Formats: sequence, C-alpha cells, structure tokens
Amino acid sequence: MPSPKRFVASPPLRSRRSSDPDAMASGTLEWSYHSRSVADTDRLGRLVGQCSQRGAIVALYGELGTGKTVFVRGVAAGLGAAPRAVSSPTFVLVHEYGGRWPLAHVDLYRLRDAAELEHVGLSDYLDGRAVVAIEWAEKAGPELPHDRLEIHLSYGGGLSRDILLKATGKGSRGVLTCVKKRCAPRRTAATVRKPERAR
Ligand SMILES: Nc1ncnc2c1ncn2[C@@H]1O[C@H](COP(=O)(O)OP(=O)(O)OP(=O)(O)O)[C@@H](O)[C@H]1O
Ligand SMILES: [Mg+2]
Repeated sequence: MPSPKRFVASPPLRSRRSSDPDAMASGTLEWSYHSRSVADTDRLGRLVGQCSQRGAIVALYGELGTGKTVFVRGVAAGLGAAPRAVSSPTFVLVHEYGGRWPLAHVDLYRLRDAAELEHVGLSDYLDGRAVVAIEWAEKAGPELPHDRLEIHLSYGGGLSRDILLKATGKGSRGVLTCVKKRCAPRRTAATVRKPERAR
C-alpha cells in the first residue's frame, strides 16, 4: 500500500471543486493530480482501487500512451488483484480479474461502432457486481453510466502526466473523496504534538 507520505513528493497540482455552475448543481467534483512517473500514476490508481466499492465505474480518457493501462494496473493492485496480470486487452476487449471485488478491464480503442458494444457485452458488466475500468470511455457513448469516476490523462512533458479526476455522481464522489483524503500529506509529529504547558 502506498504510503501517503510518499505523495508529499508529488503533490496534486491543485485541488478544487468545479467552478462550472452546471457541474456544481449536479454535484460534480474535480481534482487534479500531477504524476511525475509511472510509479506515481500507479499509486494513484491503487488509491482508486482501494477506495472503490463493487459497481464503481472508472472511465479513462487520454491519447495513446498517456498511461491509462498503467493506471488500471494500479486499480487492480488496489483491489487486491495481481497487478502484473493486467495488460491492455487487445483483440479481446474485456479482461476480468479477481480481487476484493471483481475488476472488468475494458478497452474500447478498437471498437468500430456503437453496435459492436453489444458484442463486447459492456452492459453485462454494468450490473453492479464488479468494478469496471474502461479505456477510451468516450467510445461507450450513452452506454456509459451517469455516475462514474472519470480519469483524464494528458502528457505533461517527459515522464510527467497531468491527471484530472472527475466524479459525476454520488458513488464516484465517495470514491474521489476517499482518494483525496488518503492522498493528503500526513501531518508531521511536530504538527500533532500538544503545546508544552507553561511552567
Ligand atoms: N507518469 C507516467 N504515467 C504513466 N505512464 C508513463 C508515465 N511516464 C511514462 N509512462 C510510460 O507511458 C506508457 C503508458 O502506456 P499505457 O499502455 O499505460 O498507455 P495507454 O494510455 O493505456 O495507451 P493506449 O491508448 O495505447 O491503451 C508506458 O510505456 C509507461 O512506461
Ligand atoms: Mg491502454
């Protein structure tokens, strides 16, 4: 389990609620994280896995090679599945892994059209029994559940990645709130020590 202290070295760029009034009304919660390495992205994914309950939807967006699969590997580890087993589904669009909750890893990159989604059987995985992580989630269109934790990855130069996490409903807000808490820098001994009594 990643030590929260290690996150101090790679703090979030900023943490904010969405200022978009529509988003506020619907209760969207956003949080940005700056990853400096594969290990950072993996740690953030692990926290998402640890904080996820059965039925959680993790929708991943980002150009080729931005780290979606690396992130899902972290989610799998956070759920207690074997992280090394996670690879990008190639011709098979869905891989399933065991863990605290089952994890379905869906990669829609090769999806040609919406009709193909039926063959993938995406809706079968959305019955609340598994955590579902979907790469190229934009291709799922209206099939994508409203309440989802969106992970938007983009290149930040070199090995760094900017990762925007966006919770769009009650369940995903719970996951994101948990991630933020666990990611917060730990208070040092000095800050928790009681003030010495005046002699
Ligand atoms: N900070 C970082 N976070 C994640 N991956 C990184 C980072 N820095 C470098 N990388 C490298 O970027 C690549 C990310 O590959 P990955 O397969 O996870 O991308 P992807 O977004 O899933 O791509 P695709 O769209 O092809 O599925 C890996 O080779 C990884 O080592
Ligand atoms: Mg991938």
